[in-house]
Amino acid sequence: MKKAIIVGATSGIGKGLAKLLIDNGYKVGITGRRTNLLIELKNENPDRYVIKSFDITDTNNLSQQLEELVNELGGLNLLIISSGTGNLNDNLDFETEKQTIDTNVSGFTAITDWTFNYFEKQTFGHLVAISSIAGLRGSRQAPAYNATKAFQINYLEGLRQKSNKLKTKITVTDIRPGFVDTDMAKGEGQFWVASVDKASRQILNAIKNKRKIVYITRRWRLIAALLKLVPGQIYDRM
Ligand SMILES: NC(=O)c1ccc[n+]([C@@H]2O[C@H](COP(=O)([O-])OP(=O)(O)OC[C@H]3O[C@@H](n4cnc5c(N)ncnc54)[C@H](OP(=O)(O)O)[C@@H]3O)[C@@H](O)[C@H]2O)c1
Repeated sequence: MKKAIIVGATSGIGKGLAKLLIDNGYKVGITGRRTNLLIELKNENPDRYVIKSFDITDTNNLSQQLEELVNELGGLNLLIISSGTGNLNDNLDFETEKQTIDTNVSGFTAITDWTFNYFEKQTFGHLVAISSIAGLRGSRQAPAYNATKAFQINYLEGLRQKSNKLKTKITVTDIRPGFVDTDMAKGEGQFWVASVDKASRQILNAIKNKRKIVYITRRWRLIAALLKLVPGQIYDRM
């Protein structure tokens, strides 16, 4: 049986993916800070879920947490990072930005590093992270969120390059959603909002096909292309 870990599976996309992986025959390690929600999910299929509650900003502790989880699962084929945070921050309150950086940069990096090293030792594995289309350009409303997502996109590209250079069988997939109907989708003017179910199904397909970069839902790649085309002088006034 294949083994997967989803970091950030208490709600939203991570929870949707956990259920789909169970339907697809995986044994799944699920994590998050809200232990009660992990227990709720485990109760749906007690033999196939292993739970571990931890905060990814506690980076000193992450290796041990992940090692214990892998031991309980009995191996690891796939690790998905769906944990993330971000808030509108018109007043540029540093504590708000710091929480985003601690989670989306420090926590994210500690997890990807541990996972890549683990996969390198075992010579194969699939690392998937949910970044965001937001990482393509800056944001006046949530500067840290977009900047940290840009970091994730760039970091994942680096790991893909490293995997190729090492000639390993490590796949690195960068999932870039537009809007998905979860607590994370904040702010005015949302459009093309996908259900968690639809987004999760498209992400699972991308995982099965070992895609490198995927926009969720698919039509968001049009917005991505447009975003990349807008000249800086115009973007700065938007
Ligand atoms: N929804 C969207 O429109 C959208 C668009 C683009 C990208 N994304 C990205 O998709 C990913 C998943 O978000 P979502 O939409 O599914 O939102 P969500 O329902 O809020 O899920 C976020 C998950 O991250 C976990 N998490 C957050 N901070 C954590 C921490 N410090 N330690 C451990 N776990 C933590 C949460 O668990 P606990 O709270 O239990 O710890 C939760 O399971 C995020 O990276 C987000 O940036 C979302």
